[in-house]
Parts: sequence; C-alpha cells; structure tokens
Amino acid sequence: MDSASTFRALAELIPGGVNSPFRAFGQVGGAPPILVRGQGSRVWDLEGREYLDLVCGWGPLLMGHCHPRIVQAVQEAAGEGTLFGASTTWELDLARLVTEAFPSVEMVRFVNSGAEAVHAALRVARSALARPRILKFEGCYHGHVECLDAAGLEAEQAGGPLALGASPGAASETLVARFNDLESVARLLASHRGDVAAVLVEPVTGSMGVIPPRPGFLEGLRDLCDREGVLLIFDEVLTGFRVARGGAQERYGVRADLTCLGKALSGGLPMGGYGGRADLMRRVAPTGPVYQAGTYCGNPVSVRAAVAAMEMAAAPGLYEDLETLALRLVAGLSQIPGLLVQNVGSMFSLGFGPERLEDHRDAEKLDTRTFAVFFHEMLARGVYLPPSTFDAACLATVHTAQEVDRVIQAAAEAVQVALERTPGPESGN
Ligand SMILES: Cc1ncc(COP(=O)(O)O)c(C=O)c1O
Repeated sequence: MDSASTFRALAELIPGGVNSPFRAFGQVGGAPPILVRGQGSRVWDLEGREYLDLVCGWGPLLMGHCHPRIVQAVQEAAGEGTLFGASTTWELDLARLVTEAFPSVEMVRFVNSGAEAVHAALRVARSALARPRILKFEGCYHGHVECLDAAGLEAEQAGGPLALGASPGAASETLVARFNDLESVARLLASHRGDVAAVLVEPVTGSMGVIPPRPGFLEGLRDLCDREGVLLIFDEVLTGFRVARGGAQERYGVRADLTCLGKALSGGLPMGGYGGRADLMRRVAPTGPVYQAGTYCGNPVSVRAAVAAMEMAAAPGLYEDLETLALRLVAGLSQIPGLLVQNVGSMFSLGFGPERLEDHRDAEKLDTRTFAVFFHEMLARGVYLPPSTFDAACLATVHTAQEVDRVIQAAAEAVQVALERTPGPESGN
C-alpha cells in the first residue's frame, strides 16, 4: 500500500486517519505522507521519500530521531522491565535533573502527557487557594483539558462547550485574557477578586504562531499574581528544555509557582511532569488531599529515556549551539520578502499576512491559503513542516548549518510559488 491508500484505510477506522487532530492536513489539504522511519534530522515515508524534519515530533525530539543514548535507554528498559508500578532509582535521577534545571520546581510529579500535567497543576492551585477560577489566555494551547479548551475562542469556534462535548459547566470557571496584554489580566483579576486560583500561561506561545512575551509581560504577570494573591502557572510543556534548559523562566528570569513540563523532557517517549513550590506539591496525594494518580506515571521506559535526554541537555554549550543554528535559520528566512518568521530559540513559526504577531487577534489574520501552497511546496522540496501556520516548527541539535541553508533556499522558492498562486492576502482559518 502507498501513503495515499494507507491514509484512506486509516480514515475508515480512526477519525480523520489521525490519533491527534494536529497531524491531519486539514488546513493545508491533501493526505499526509505515511512515515515509516526517522534518523537524526530526517524522516522517510512509505514511498522511500526523505524529508528534513522540522516537526520533531511536535517538539519533543530535541536530540533528533533515534539518538543512540535514547535508544540505549529504551532498549535497556525493555530488557530489564518496562513497568513495576513501584518507585525506581531512575525516578530519583530524573527528579534531581529536573529540579536542578528549574530552580522554581522544588518538587515534581511525573505523569504521561502535557495535558495530564496541566490538569493536575490546576487541581493543586484550586485546592491550595480554595478558589474555583483559572485565568488563561486567548489562543494559548494547554492540551486536552476540559475547563480550558471549553473556554474562550476555541469553544466559540467549535460552537460552544456543548458542541465540544464538554460538560456545560466546564468553562464557567475559566476566565480568558489577551496574551501580551497585562491590562486585560488586571481587569479580570480585579472583577473576580478572591475567586481566581491561578493565572495559567504559555510563556512563549506555540499554537497561534510562536509569540514571545512582550518585555515586561511575564514580570507583570508575576507582580499582578503576587498583588492579588493568585498563583502563577507556566505551561512549559513546549518551552521547557527547548528555549533554554530551564525553559522560558530561565530565559526571561521569571519564577513560576507551578510549572508544567512534557515534550523535550523525555526525548520522544510519552511523559509529562508538574512541579513547583514544595508547599504546593506536598498537597498532592499521598502527602496531601489532591488526588492524582496513574498506572504508567513514572514508567521506567519513559523515565530512563528522560534521564538520558536530561543528561544530554545539561551538556555545556548545547543551547548556545542550538541558538546559533536558530539565528542562522531566522536570519535567512527573514530575508525572504512576504514571509513572516517568528521565533524564540529553536522554536519558530512561518506565515503570511500580518507584519507581526503579538496575540491571538493577529494570528487570526494569518493567510492560511498561501500557507497551504507554501507548505506543499516545502514538502515537495523535502522539508517537512507542521501542517499549520499556527503551530511551532522546531530545530533539533542534530540539524546542521547546511541543512538550515537548504531550508532557507527551499523556502525562498516555495514562497515565490505560494505568492504567485494566491495573489492577495486572505485571512482566517
Ligand atoms: C504548551 C502546551 N501545553 C500542553 C500541551 C499538551 O501536551 P500533550 O500533547 O503531551 O498532552 C501541548 C501540546 O502540544 C503544548 O504545546
């Protein structure tokens, strides 16, 4: 079977042919290549076509595909026991590595995904302050978490919480502010004084284009939270161990009360984690009343892969080299007329239309028609990007300067074709 017929067969048995909707080519059209192998910076499809991979598993593959140390860790775990349902020495190694990288994380709990981590962190916050509400930001993605994806623009676009299948009350405790707009946060906190447990933010956004925080935005959130007695939660599922070893909080020098982790934490194995102030984390069962549990939480396969990934992330110079590579890429792409490039370190997004993205309202103006042509032109040139202008692409430590130059060259050609084929900006999803 080729990619096209495999995808058709998949779509008959699995909704949309994908096990997570991000992977569908809904925005760009066509059927995704069926990938069969990855190695380093490359992936191959059923037809044997090779692509330079800039999806990197949607963030986790900081060291690329099949890094020998990750492979070894997984093989060792497979041979020595994949699941004990009991504490292991590797969990201690990993907890030490994570708390060392994130000074604000005094204690940590490992779970199986980013969404699980966010869900648990919200519970801890609500229980600690005995308050019901969470403030989030328009366009920030935190995974499949009922009270978050049932609120705000995401829900509106889907026709409201009931259309989403969420329980009707799920969104009622969620307040939605504008990213990069402290005023909107201050207003909501003031009008719900005493009711808000936490402000939850992606410190750099990854699903409405890569949008950095304006200077002072994260510091301002910290101040507002302190003033209002509200907890500050950084969702660093994507930014953790990517924009710096210690995530956005290291890069921008702002301390969160609770932090959610995932993706690059475990180098491509399923895992998430949440942690923060010890007094808050001691509220988690069995030391405290906040229930959170899971059969596979801290399983040896993911944990041993994560220990390998975290040891590599601690190598001197790793993030400096990645930053240099990212600068080369962004400098080259920024020279291409008509192409919008935004990045923070090795996470970047490409688009057409607006001059600059500062929040979700800007992202809504992105020209998805032109992006669709651009995307397929890149694919035809052997460059595999996320199939959406809103989602972050990533570089890995295994990408080379030559590969980055190839991406720039391919993009210059692809942009030209895209702009010729779709004259005039068209915005919207
Ligand atoms: C910032 C952010 N938070 C949470 C999640 C959810 O993580 P997971 O897909 O592992 O549940 C994602 C996933 O894309 C993310 O980007």
